[in-house]
This record gives sequence, C-alpha cells and structure tokens, in this order.
Amino acid sequence: MKPITLRIWHWLNALTLLGLLGTVLLRKTFLSWRTNSAVIQEKITAAGGQIDPDLAKKIAQALRDTMWEWHYIFGYALAALFVLRIFVAIRHPETRPNFKALDLHHKLVTGGYVALTLMTLMMIGSGFAMYFSETLGLAKSSVDLMKENHETAMWFFVAFSALHIGGVFVAENRDEPGIVSRMINGRKAD
Ligand code: HEM
Ligand code: HEM
Repeated sequence: MKPITLRIWHWLNALTLLGLLGTVLLRKTFLSWRTNSAVIQEKITAAGGQIDPDLAKKIAQALRDTMWEWHYIFGYALAALFVLRIFVAIRHPETRPNFKALDLHHKLVTGGYVALTLMTLMMIGSGFAMYFSETLGLAKSSVDLMKENHETAMWFFVAFSALHIGGVFVAENRDEPGIVSRMINGRKAD
C-alpha cells in the first residue's frame, strides 16, 4: 500500500510545481513587461497621447506582479509540502528511498526522486532568501547570483516533469500496468 498521506502529498506537490512553472511561463510570455510596455506605449501613441517609456514599464510590471504573487503562494505551498514529506518519511519508513532492494532501472528512477528532493530544497532556500533579502540584509551581488542559479535550475524541473510524466505513461503501458492507479488508490495491481 502507498500511504494516503504520500498519495495526497504527491498530487498536491505535482500541482504546486506545475503552478510554479506556470507562473514563470506567464512571466516570460503574456505578461512579459518588455512586450506589454511596448503595447501600452503603442496604444497611447495611436490614441494621440504620450507616455514616458519608464512609466509604461512600471505599468506593465505592476500588471505582471499581480500574477507573480502566485509564485510566492505556490512557493510557500512547496515549502509546506517539503515539511509534510519529511513527516511522511518518519511515519512510513517504507516511503524512504531504498536503493538496495531495486533493479538498475528503479535505482535510476529513485535517484531522480532524490535529485528532485535536493533541487527542491535548493529552490526553497534560494527563493526564500531572495524573497526576504531586505530583511536578511543580503548584498545585491549575492541576490543576483542566487537569482541566476534559481532561474537556471528551473530547467531541471522542466526536464524532471517531462521525463517523469513520459516515464509513467511508458511504465503504465509496458511493465507496470496500474502504476498510476496505485498513486491514486494506493493498491498494487493484482
Ligand atoms: C510534475 C509534477 C510531478 C512531480 C514533481 C512528481 C513527483 C513524484 C515523486 C517525488 C514521486 C516518488 C514518490 C515516492 O516517494 O514514492 C512520484 C511518483 C509517481 N508519480 Fe509523480 N510527480 C509529478 C507528476 C505526476 C503525474 C502528472 C503523474 C501521472 C500521470 C504522476 C504519476 C506518478 C506515479 C504513478 C508515481 C509512482 C511511480 C513509482 O512508484 O516510481 N506524477 N512522482
Ligand atoms: C521548483 C520551484 C521553483 C521554480 C521552478 C522557480 C522558478 C523561478 C524562475 C525561473 C525565476 C526567475 C523569473 C524571472 O526573473 O524571469 C524565479 C524567481 C523568483 N522566485 Fe522562484 N521558483 C521556484 C520556487 C520558488 C520558491 C519556493 C520561492 C520562495 C518564495 C521562490 C521565490 C522566487 C523569487 C523571490 C524570485 C525573484 C523574483 C524577482 O526578482 O522578481 N521561488 N523563480
């Protein structure tokens, strides 16, 4: 049996991570301040008005920031879920990675989950350090470096999600039918 707490954790964690990636996607596309400040300037000029490019940028950023608040809401959720996963591991030792009992393929899969855990911890650490940088009195150079790493590390999560969802679909169709149901109802297929 997969404990109910692990199953709930899994789906909430998946939604939270996809939510975080969604906020980044919106920030870089529909709500990009570069694109939208150009739109604001263009529309005002077309209507015969004038706007300082700096003000157009500020308006575009303000529109983006309303959405970006969700990066922080999901960020808090990710941190809370990390703590929950520690409790699940304490309460249910069988949910801890156990490489010895596994074949090579599942050693690699489990290695992927361990890497995900470490990278998640790094994102929570750097994310909160940036979020509270003023309170913590961090130097701008450290914040910039952290932001660069935090931003680059996003690609790990994109790759993990694609490989994981693809891998689960392949496993479901090949050697492990019922693997997805198991993450929903907890039971191993007969
Ligand atoms: C992108 C967000 C997702 C993340 C971060 C994620 C993360 C994880 C993690 C950490 C595990 C290992 C759980 C454990 O400790 O046993 C796991 C297992 C699993 N996930 Fe996901 N997951 C995501 C999305 C999905 C989706 C969309 C599906 C369904 C299509 C899925 C299906 C499964 C299944 C079936 C397992 C069990 C596989 C196994 O026993 O190795 N996951 N996932
Ligand atoms: C796996 C999870 C996460 C991913 C993939 C992710 C991704 C990103 C990316 C790509 C950026 C750069 C956006 C840009 O400047 O274009 C960013 C910025 C940021 N993230 Fe995250 N993040 C994650 C988790 C978190 C968490 C847990 C927090 C904690 C609250 C957080 C807080 C921040 C902050 C404060 C910024 C800087 C925003 C700014 O300078 O305007 N992130 N994140």
